[in-house]
Amino acid sequence: MRLGNRILHGGDYNPDQWLDCPEILEEDVRLMKKAGVNCVSLGIFAWSMLEPEEGRYELDWLEEIIQRLYDNDIHTILATPTGAMPHWLTDQYEEVRQVREDGVRNDAGKRHNYCPRSLVMREKTRRIDQKLAERLGRHPGVISWHISNEIGNNGIDGACYCANCQQAFREWLQKKYDTLDTLNKAWWTAFWSHTYTDWAQIKSPSSRGENLLHGLNLDWKRFVSSQQLDFCREEIRTVRKYSSLPVTTNLMAFFRPLDYFQWAKAFDFVSWDCYPDWHSGADELDTAAEAAAAHSLVRSLKRDNFLMMESTPSVVNWREKNRLKRPGMHELSSLQAVACGSDSVQYFQWRKSRGSSEKYHGAVVDHKYGEDTRVFRDVARLGERLLQISEKVLGTCNQARIAMIFDWENWWAVEDANAIDNHIQYQSVFLEYFRPFWELGVDVDILDMDCELDSYDVVVAPLNYLYRKGYTDRVRQYVDKGGCYVTTCWSGEVDDTDLVYLEKHPLEDVLGIAPEEVDVPDGYCENSIRFQGQSYQITGLCGLVHAKSAEVLAQYQHDFYAGYPALTRNIYGKGEAYYIASMNEMDFIRAFYRMLLHEKELECRLNVKFPMGVTVNERRASDRSLWFLQNFNRTAAYVEFLEPYTNIETGEVINGKIMMEAFECIILEKFK
Ligand code: GLA
Ligand code: ZN
Repeated sequence: MRLGNRILHGGDYNPDQWLDCPEILEEDVRLMKKAGVNCVSLGIFAWSMLEPEEGRYELDWLEEIIQRLYDNDIHTILATPTGAMPHWLTDQYEEVRQVREDGVRNDAGKRHNYCPRSLVMREKTRRIDQKLAERLGRHPGVISWHISNEIGNNGIDGACYCANCQQAFREWLQKKYDTLDTLNKAWWTAFWSHTYTDWAQIKSPSSRGENLLHGLNLDWKRFVSSQQLDFCREEIRTVRKYSSLPVTTNLMAFFRPLDYFQWAKAFDFVSWDCYPDWHSGADELDTAAEAAAAHSLVRSLKRDNFLMMESTPSVVNWREKNRLKRPGMHELSSLQAVACGSDSVQYFQWRKSRGSSEKYHGAVVDHKYGEDTRVFRDVARLGERLLQISEKVLGTCNQARIAMIFDWENWWAVEDANAIDNHIQYQSVFLEYFRPFWELGVDVDILDMDCELDSYDVVVAPLNYLYRKGYTDRVRQYVDKGGCYVTTCWSGEVDDTDLVYLEKHPLEDVLGIAPEEVDVPDGYCENSIRFQGQSYQITGLCGLVHAKSAEVLAQYQHDFYAGYPALTRNIYGKGEAYYIASMNEMDFIRAFYRMLLHEKELECRLNVKFPMGVTVNERRASDRSLWFLQNFNRTAAYVEFLEPYTNIETGEVINGKIMMEAFECIILEKFK
């Protein structure tokens, strides 16, 4: 999906906070042009300006602003304003306010906190959305809908626990399980004598009550995600009735409460808000790899280009300490998004608010000195650069040959296993397996267990504890037809109701191993494994498995399981499956991936040698490729080109050894 012929550059614009300062609104347009802004997101939290009293709508101001921007070649992504509720709504109809897990209803205020089942909220939302869509849904300046804002981001778990929601949960369960008997079996409620005998006994998990039925916990999370989505879908239906513009919402990538693979189906294209914690550690590499993973996840949701809907041009205000982006980082991190498939660089926000909690959040225009600031100059320079590369970049996208599985249901279940390691963090383990791919400069798509696997050469599924229905069959067929499947210990433990598989591992035939116990050496016992003549330290779980048909490629070195398999490979049909039994230091994963990529000729296609901290993403069209060579090191780095390439911005031909500045990004194409 492509919106126009320029990489979008701009961001959240909140003129609703400045309506009584027309000179500022005038100045905004002048400055936007100066900063190379061609697109803003409007109306995100403007409900009380659009509907100051129930049923009285005032849209003139918004139309005027959209028109003025359009006259100046600036497009609008138009938001529905439901991210925050006006007082006339929250005070008159308490049912619109969420109830927290402790049973207390929220007071008015803040945002992202409506009850998704409230009929009043739904009705008021339909009305305002209808007004907006009728009036502005065909305006030539408007290019897309932005439904609400960061839906579900209520600072806790995205859930409402009110009586309406509890009732809806029971109905949802009834539909799913049909009989209580089926539900009791699926949730294993005979444990501690908690068999349900009446649907009315079922309540959401509670810190003062039931929270140890894993099946209940899992279904509640599915329900919460689906309820928020249901509300969002109703907004989408409303705007689509009056407008044929594409629809998106700003997602948050690895946002635990919402299963974004389900969500993505509702939108025409995907967008997200990106706030990496730059300059936080000994180096930038973990942060950069995590940002790349988040971009890749978002791109993979629809396997298409996406928009980076928000990012900060300088600083956020919600971390303990909020560091400025160092010179060069703004440009690099913005181009990283583009390198990973974004067709935009959008900010939160255009102009700093004067009051309230975000008054010190970074923005393109500061409280003082207008265009005469470091941040403004950075943004304007980037705007020029984006404009210059637009023609070549648009129409290309990353085309990964490697996929990794990241699945929300697995996320919820594996961290609720009450098992060997109660601090296990699925996302961190996933990122440990992602980062070496990032270091090697190969693009990776990120899929859930329902996605199609066949178009990938390699699928890596770390900590794939829960198997969704149909997953084992898909993996079996994928490997049988020639795919390469890599998984780790603590995989294939439970089915989709969180019941443990009996008798044998559900993919035993494909993996060629039989897992028995799992250890987590800590302090008293330490361990390491030996692979290709090298020792690697254990860093987490150690699966004790027996090789059946699999060949053993690495073994544990110590303790009572010295000599047990730590890495196995099994031929199955035309393909093969690897099982990594232990969690190991990253050097092991690096060595393992290097072997795999070399064997399958999946290495980075830019013919250049680059050191740690420099990486590559490749955007492709059918007839050409663009490579983004990025240096995330805080110091200069040397790279060596083994064949000539052209720098698409300078036209310069590059070959041999060159120096890259700290935080530099060079965009290249094949030399012709
Ligand atoms: C989120 C929200 C924005 C703003 C930024 C601040 O992304 O969508 O409204 O609050 O955070 O970083
Ligand atoms: Zn509710």
